[in-house]
Amino acid sequence: MAEVIVVENADAAGELIAASIRALIEARPDAVLGLATGSTPLPIYRSLARSFADRPLDVSQVRGFSLDEYVGLPAGHPESYRSVITRDVVTPLGLTPGNIHVPSGDPAGLPAAGADYERAIVRAGGVDLQILGIGRTGHLGFNEPGSSFESLTRVKTLTPQTRADNARFFASADDVPVHCITQGLGTIRRARHLVLLAVGEGKAAAIAAAVEGPVTASQPGSAIQLHPHVTVVVDEAAASMLANLDYYRYAWANKPAWQGI
Ligand code: F6R
Repeated sequence: MAEVIVVENADAAGELIAASIRALIEARPDAVLGLATGSTPLPIYRSLARSFADRPLDVSQVRGFSLDEYVGLPAGHPESYRSVITRDVVTPLGLTPGNIHVPSGDPAGLPAAGADYERAIVRAGGVDLQILGIGRTGHLGFNEPGSSFESLTRVKTLTPQTRADNARFFASADDVPVHCITQGLGTIRRARHLVLLAVGEGKAAAIAAAVEGPVTASQPGSAIQLHPHVTVVVDEAAASMLANLDYYRYAWANKPAWQGI
């Protein structure tokens, strides 16, 4: 079962997860991080940047793999996930740019891009800690409903709902690409620790389906139930549709101090 931790707000979530990532890097300086984009993980990256500024840590060997990329945006487009990862993660955290990978959304290379990305993850020894957000459709990465739990990095078609949700980053919904390249649910499930963060009531249904619903490809988030080490961090609003909330709070309050997340 996933460990569900209810926190006061997004900043508290960011601090909790950032502390865990820092501990991982202290123990393993060449740790492999799975990076998510979108709004949700920003407090994690901000908290990590503060932590590194307060107490410097050598992060030059840290490696990273992004979950996904839009297909067909021109190189250097400010909303390409390559640009976003550079702006929000690589630069503020002082990571080594060559160690941070994003799948290529260049249409010319698409037939080989998924397999290339999978090989790169395997060569790195796999992902130690995968940061995840969740879409209102229940997607992890951009694995929209119907995605196979065994899927690997490949091209997917974004749902109209996801394109509308991400229109805030573009001039209009029509400018949001229709296609993306995303790690599969099978890729994500191979990471050794999944940390899923969600804030706001717009995510409450997707979180309840992921944590407590039936395991079904119709709710890609439910793939987390097949993983042995999952931490779900939510604010009160995102937690509001969870049936077993009292138990999650009880378990967190009584968590052994040695355990970590
Ligand atoms: C981002 C990603 C997506 C987002 C999800 C939530 O790399 O793979 O699964 O995590 O769409 O997006 P936000 O955080 O913007 O609500």
